[in-house]
Amino acid sequence: MRRRTFLSAAATAVGALAASPRRLPAAEPVTARFPDGFLWGCSTSAYQIEGAVTADGRGASVWDTFSRTPGKVRDGDTGDVACDHYHRYREDVALMARAGMGAYRFSVAWPRVMPDGAGPVNAAGLDFYDRLVDALLESGVEPWPCLFHWDLPQALQDRGGWTDRAIAGRFADYAVAVARRLGDRVTHWAMLNEPGVVAIFGHGTGGHAPGLTGRATCMAALHHQNLAQGTALQALRAAGGGRWRLGTVLCVQPSVPVGGRPENAGAAALWDAVWNRAGLDPLFHGRYPDLLEADVGPLLRAGDPETIRQPVDWLGVNYYSRMHQQPDPGGLFGTGYGPPPPGTQVTAMGWPVEPGGLTEVLLELRDRYGNPPVVLAENGAAYDDRPGPDGAVEDGERIAFLRAHLLAGHAALAQGANLRGWLVWTLLDNFEWAEGYARRFGLVRVDRDTLERTPKASYHWYADVIRRNGVAA
Ligand code: FCB
Repeated sequence: MRRRTFLSAAATAVGALAASPRRLPAAEPVTARFPDGFLWGCSTSAYQIEGAVTADGRGASVWDTFSRTPGKVRDGDTGDVACDHYHRYREDVALMARAGMGAYRFSVAWPRVMPDGAGPVNAAGLDFYDRLVDALLESGVEPWPCLFHWDLPQALQDRGGWTDRAIAGRFADYAVAVARRLGDRVTHWAMLNEPGVVAIFGHGTGGHAPGLTGRATCMAALHHQNLAQGTALQALRAAGGGRWRLGTVLCVQPSVPVGGRPENAGAAALWDAVWNRAGLDPLFHGRYPDLLEADVGPLLRAGDPETIRQPVDWLGVNYYSRMHQQPDPGGLFGTGYGPPPPGTQVTAMGWPVEPGGLTEVLLELRDRYGNPPVVLAENGAAYDDRPGPDGAVEDGERIAFLRAHLLAGHAALAQGANLRGWLVWTLLDNFEWAEGYARRFGLVRVDRDTLERTPKASYHWYADVIRRNGVAA
C-alpha cells in the first residue's frame, strides 16, 4: 500500500489553483504580516537528498534495503544518488541563503555516524555534518538538525529495530554523540521526524521501510520511538546543560469523518488517536489515548509515561491535509481513507488541498496542549511542474498552495496560536520515499540526468515572502 494515497474521484483536477508565478512587485501591499523575528526556512531529509550511500564509511539503512527490494518503490528508484547533496551541499546552502532563509532543518543520517547503529562513531560521517553546519553558519542560515528522519541503520533493524525496546538507549547514545560534535555551533535540535508515519507505514501497512505489517508491530514501533525520543531529550538536556533548545517533529492533521457523516465518526476518532494523539498525548500529558489502551497495555512498563513526558522547547508540526476517515474492515485499525468533500482540489500525491486544517491544528495545540512554541516544520506540495521552453518552471499551483497555507497559519496566529517559524517542504525535488522521483516537492527543480538545480517561480515567490515577512494579496 502506498502512503496516504487518497481516493479522489470526487476531487476536481488541479489547475484552477494556478496563480501568477511572477515575482511580486515590491509595491504590492502585504496582507498578512508575520511577527518580527519570525523564522523562515526549509526542511529536507538525509536519505531523500544526500546520495553517496557508501561514501566515507556510511553503513546501510533500512531505506537502502527497502528501495533495492523489487516492487517496493515506484520505478525501482533508490536514494543511491538522490540530489547528490553530499557533494553539492555548498550550492544548496547558497540557494537557501540567496532566498534569505534564516533556518534549515536537515536530518543527520544515523548510519553515517554509527554504521552499525551502536558503538564506535564514524568520524568521517560526522565530518560531513560538520562541514554542512559551518557552511550554513557562514551563509547566515541557522542549522536545525533532526536526529532521525526514517533511515534507521540496517544493522539495528537486524536486531529488531523499533520493535525492540533497547533501541531507546541506543538512540540516546547516538544523539549525544552527534550533539557533542556539532553542539558548539548548533542550538536547535529535533529528535524524531513523524514517528507516527514510521510506525504506521513502516511497521503497520508495510508501504515504507522496513516493510513490516500488523497492528501490534505498528504500536510497538510507535511506543519505542516515543521512549527513544524521551530518553534522548533527557540525555541531551543533561549533556547540554541548558544551552540547547530541544524539540521533536510530529505530523499533526485533523482526522475527520468522510462526508461529515455520523457513521464515520468512530473511524475518524480512532485514526485521530493513532495518527495524532499517540504522539501528542504521551509527550504533553504523559498518557496514551483511551482508545489505544488495549494496544499499548502490553508494551507499557513502569516509568514509561514519565520517560516520554518531557518538556520541549519547541514542537515541530508537519501539515499537508486533513485525513477523511471511514470504516474499512481491511484497514490496519479497521479504518481507511475516503474522499474529501466534492470539489476539493488535490496535489500530484492525491492529497486534498485543505489549508483550513492547518488553522485547526494550531488552535488545537493552543487549547489542548498548552500552546507550545510551534515551528511549522513541513508544508508543501507535489505538482507535475515542468520547465518551459526557456527552462523556467512556472509552478503557480505550488505558489497558490503555499500562500493559502501561510494565510491559514496567519489566521491561527491572529487567534493566539504560538507559531514561531515556517519551514517549507522542501528545497529540492528529491526521493519521495515509495513514490521515488516521480513526485516533485521542490522550490528548486533538480534535473534527474544532470542534477542541475533550477529555482522555480515558487522559490522566487518564497524569497519575496521572507523579504517582506509576510504574504502579499
Ligand atoms: C512527510 C515526510 C517528508 C516528505 C513529505 C512529503 O511526511 O516527513 O520526508 O516525504 O512528507
